[in-house]
Amino acid sequence: MSIIIAPSVLACDFSKLGEEIEMINQSVAEWIHIDVMDGMFVPNISFGFPILEAIRKKTTKICDVHLMVQQPERYIADFKKYGADAISIHWESCTHIHRAIQEIKSLGMKAGIVLNPHTPIHFLEDIIHELDYVLIMSVNPGFGGQKFIPASIDKIAALKKYIAERNLKTLIQVDGGVDINNARAVKDAGATILVAGSAVFKSAQPIQMIQDLKEI
Ligand code: DX5
Ligand code: ZN
Repeated sequence: MSIIIAPSVLACDFSKLGEEIEMINQSVAEWIHIDVMDGMFVPNISFGFPILEAIRKKTTKICDVHLMVQQPERYIADFKKYGADAISIHWESCTHIHRAIQEIKSLGMKAGIVLNPHTPIHFLEDIIHELDYVLIMSVNPGFGGQKFIPASIDKIAALKKYIAERNLKTLIQVDGGVDINNARAVKDAGATILVAGSAVFKSAQPIQMIQDLKEI
């Protein structure tokens, strides 16, 4: 399966959001990654519904919402309403995560669980068969532009094995510090969806960078 690139708009120039979305439309990216932060689950606040709504109007890509908020189940229906196609919620943020995953799926969206760098894969044991994707955080969530944590490579490989042993088709998404230097190792370990913020938006040729990441 070919790699899916999901540019993270957190790193874009919000003063020209329309142009940035148009750039992604012109690229080979299939997903667009939307980081929602509440200032509680993570130390940073990013943006919410109005930005998703604006992106939805312009994008031709799959809107992939990464919820870094406490009790994300409070907002699932709203994110659907404003344009989400896929929602991932953190294992660490949600007590009744099975119920939340069912709700995401019942609204016709793809459902993912995100694991922080310290959260082990085996915590997915009783839920993995319900998931469309697992997001492995390769930085501590909250900020763009951080350095990729090298141990993430072994974690991705272990997750790939874990999924294969259960005969599942769960996709593996990786988020944080992914760039042209580590994308090959991330792919070889078993990731199929690569999120890239700074690597894309700080590049002089973002459309080419998205293609290079996809063809790595
Ligand atoms: C971090 C966010 C990431 C971030 C990635 O908490 O979840 O999606 O935007 O940005 P880079 O690629 O710059 O690390
Ligand atoms: Zn993210």
